Amino acid sequence: MDVRIVDSYDDLSEKAAEIVAAEVKQNRRAVLGLATGSTPEGMYAVLAGYHRDNKIDFSGVTTFNLDEYAGLSREHSQSYYYYMHRHFFDHVNIDPRRINIPESSSEDVVRSCREYEQKIKEAGGIDLQVLGIGVNGHIGFNEPADSLDVYTHLVELAEETIEANSRFFNSRDEVPHQALTMGMGSIMHAAKILLLASGKNKARAIQKTVSGKITTAVPASLLHMHCSCTVIVDREAAALL
Ligand code: F6R
Repeated sequence: MDVRIVDSYDDLSEKAAEIVAAEVKQNRRAVLGLATGSTPEGMYAVLAGYHRDNKIDFSGVTTFNLDEYAGLSREHSQSYYYYMHRHFFDHVNIDPRRINIPESSSEDVVRSCREYEQKIKEAGGIDLQVLGIGVNGHIGFNEPADSLDVYTHLVELAEETIEANSRFFNSRDEVPHQALTMGMGSIMHAAKILLLASGKNKARAIQKTVSGKITTAVPASLLHMHCSCTVIVDREAAALL
């Protein structure tokens, strides 16, 4: 695990965007695994800026998002489909046919999860997976548990996650309790991983991830077993390291 501490959220966004851009420049057919949430918003804005300045071409890139809430339509302003278009896809020249986001409204969720994994496989696997981290150490929506799922699956969100994400909704009651998420195996199979964390509310999760033992109680700690994992944290998130 290569841990880099930067001064500010803006620096984190710049560094993360540089890493993603380098991946795309070196391979115009790169397959990116993408995250949502507050953390990567700045990174997406920087990448959109690179595109505006003609510094990067996303036309050959394929994307796979980590997760999607169950029970929200794609048009809902808090769906991850909506988020990805608002923050990134609408601002770059990505081919809509190469965008993949878990399909949570499908009648047959198990099948939809299986198909998602199959698509990742057919795309040749993920070259670079971007991750945020939950206050409880989750990655994707792989919540702390005695055992973790390998592949894309339906998950019950942890209370801490519902609480943390209620800031995006009018009330806590509106936060979905379930989501589809890539599994730990889907994430660990990526050739490279980039984990981002910002703010003091992530300090404990980052301490447990970076300095603690490897445990399913802190899913992000499993990233120690990945051979190419870069962690970028700002000073606040690194406060307990
Ligand atoms: C989002 C995701 C989650 C978030 C995490 C942190 O696609 O997979 O694991 O990365 O909950 O969210 P923020 O960045 O909002 O603190």
